[in-house]
Parts: sequence; C-alpha cells; structure tokens
Amino acid sequence: MIYRIALLPGDGIGQEVIPVAQAVLEAAGLDARFTEWPIGWSCFEQEGTALPPETLAAVREADAALLGAVSSPSRRVAGYRSPVVGLRRELNLYACIRPVRTPPLPGARPNVDLVVVRENSEGLYVGQEERNGDTAIARRVITAGASRRIAEWALSYARRHDRQRITLVHKANVLRETCGLFRESALDVLDGTDGIQVDELLVDTAAYQLVRNPERFDVIVTTNLFGDILSDAASAWGGGLGIAASANIGEHHAVFEPVHGSAPDIARRGIANPLAAFGAAVLLLDHLGETERAQSVRAAVDSALGAGLWTPDLGGSATTAQVTEYVINRLHQYSAGVSSH
Ligand code: NAI
Ligand code: MG
Repeated sequence: MIYRIALLPGDGIGQEVIPVAQAVLEAAGLDARFTEWPIGWSCFEQEGTALPPETLAAVREADAALLGAVSSPSRRVAGYRSPVVGLRRELNLYACIRPVRTPPLPGARPNVDLVVVRENSEGLYVGQEERNGDTAIARRVITAGASRRIAEWALSYARRHDRQRITLVHKANVLRETCGLFRESALDVLDGTDGIQVDELLVDTAAYQLVRNPERFDVIVTTNLFGDILSDAASAWGGGLGIAASANIGEHHAVFEPVHGSAPDIARRGIANPLAAFGAAVLLLDHLGETERAQSVRAAVDSALGAGLWTPDLGGSATTAQVTEYVINRLHQYSAGVSSH
C-alpha cells in the first residue's frame, strides 16, 4: 500500500525538522507519497489565512499528516485564527496522545513509560466564555458520548500496545456533574476489562503522583484541561521539548506533531533538535499499523541519544543535519540486518 502523507512544516524550525522527518520515514522504508502544504503565520501573511482550504482538504484526503509548528501572534490580529485548533475542530481530532518514556540520557529518571490520552473536543476548551462586569464565566461541556469515545480509544490503545493499566483521572468529588458524567461514562467502558487493570485518581493526586512516582502510570485517560496540564507535567520526565511528540487522532483523520513550537530564537541556525519530529514520525507509523518501522525509528532515535548526538538544547553541539544523518544511517543498518545492539 502506498500511503498518502501530508507534510505541513509551518513556521520557524517546523521548516527544518519536517523535511528531515520525511527523510527518516523514507529511510525506514515507508512506501508513501508526500505532499507539502502551507499553514501558520507566514501563510497567513501571504494568503490571509493560517489554514488554507487546500491544506485542510489535503489533510482530509491523506492517510496521515505531519505538522511542524506554527507561530502565533502574541497580540490580537484581525482575522487570524489558530490553525492547530482549526484542524482539530474541522477534522474532529478528539483524542490527543502524548507518550512519555525515560530517554537514554544521563541523569534521566528510570522506568518512566506512560501515555496521556486526553479528550480533545470538549470540556473547558469549548470556548464558551463570557464576562459580565467583574464576573467571568466559562462553560465546561462534558457529554457521555465523548467520554465513552475517549475511554474506548484508551482501551484499544492499551490493547494494541500491551499496556497493563489504565488510570482514569478526574475531579468528580467536586465537579459532580461534569466530572461525574465523565467518570461514569468512562467506567462503563472500562469496567470488567479483561487483562487490563483500571484505577482512578483525583486530578490533584494524579499531579502529585506524576511528580513523586511517575513509574506507577501506564495509560492515563482524562478530560481536556486536565490532560493539557498533566501531559506537560509528565513530559518533564521524557527529556524535554526537543524530544516530546504528540498525536491528534479522530475517527477518520490524524495529525502528528512535535510538541514544541516554532522556536524563533534558534530558527535558521541548523541546530533545532529533530528528534521530537522523529518521535512524531514514530507515532504516525504506529497509527498506520507500521509497527516494525515505528520500532526501528524509535530504536534509531534512542541510539542517537545514547551515542551522545545531542543538539545544544540537550547540552551538546550536534547540528540537525548530523543527528539526522546518524539516525538515517542506523535505519539503513537495521534494514541491512546489521545491528550493534
Ligand atoms: P517553543 O517550543 O517554540 O520554544 C521554547 C524553547 O524551547 C525555546 O527556547 C526554543 O529554542 C526551545 N526549543 C523548542 N523546540 C526545540 C527544538 N526542537 N530543538 C531545540 N530547542 C527547542 O515555544 P515558545 O517559544 O513559547 O513559542 C514560540 C512560537 O511557537 C510562538 O509563536 C508559539 O505560539 C508557537 N507555538 C506553537 C506550537 C505548535 O505549533 N503546536 C506549540 C507551542 C508554541
Ligand atoms: Mg499545552
């Protein structure tokens, strides 16, 4: 099968890490047709929209999309809307996935291997806020359908990836209706699940445990705002922004991206860490069912980290090109059956 992959480099270092991520997917032997589409701030400046209709259509038609990063204006700009939010809404990418693993780096906390599965279509982020004088009110929308759907996604992810435990995170003791409904609906899906342990934590306890005892977690499933915060907190164990990757997945479409932004402070210097984008490529391969290729890229990334091929964000002096070359060489060695592991 020839996959159709839409590449959306975007702004800043997105332009540097996405082309090399494509090269890594090719070196992993993925049979794909890649097309590139504009998105982001410079696209807005040129075309008057940060998410052109042809970009949206291309992501719709593709088997998967790889997004770099977009810059967003710090001031309010008339007509500008976040293209990342736009993609999520338009394509109904309701599940946001952030895996965090102990990196092979000195001083890293051992035995962390968890994934945060965040409901990404509702909750406090529905954008229904109002201000009346000195009072501001936000609506928190939770539905049984979306809560069941994210629990089902977490369960099927856990089964596919041999995960042992799912932890449901909420605050149902205080938010009795919204978190109450989320909890009930999710437990309805998760209760009595064969071979996978299910437990629940209040979000404040979960935050404490993520700091004190991150090894206890396997799959975390939670609502939108809680998931946003917990996934950033968890990523501290994974080696930082230069490494972290995420997936936005819906019923029919999926967008993969490094967690980092456009990093204007280091753009065009050739020193951006490409490993986060390679991590996004791993998630993309996993999603396509290309499990072996995903494992190869993951191993090659670990190998680069273990060999000290570090860009400046990790305290080294390697360039984007050097890290990429190393990873691609490893992939060629794997496919030739040569391995020094
Ligand atoms: P950022 O993630 O772009 O950068 C934060 C810091 O981490 C910077 O010092 C940067 O140099 C460093 N960094 C990030 N990625 C790196 C990499 N791959 N290699 C080496 N160093 C790296 O976040 P910041 O500075 O808050 O935002 C910059 C722009 O990116 C803003 O316009 C923001 O709105 C946008 N942004 C976009 C995101 C997206 O496209 N999903 C996510 C976060 C921010
Ligand atoms: Mg965030």
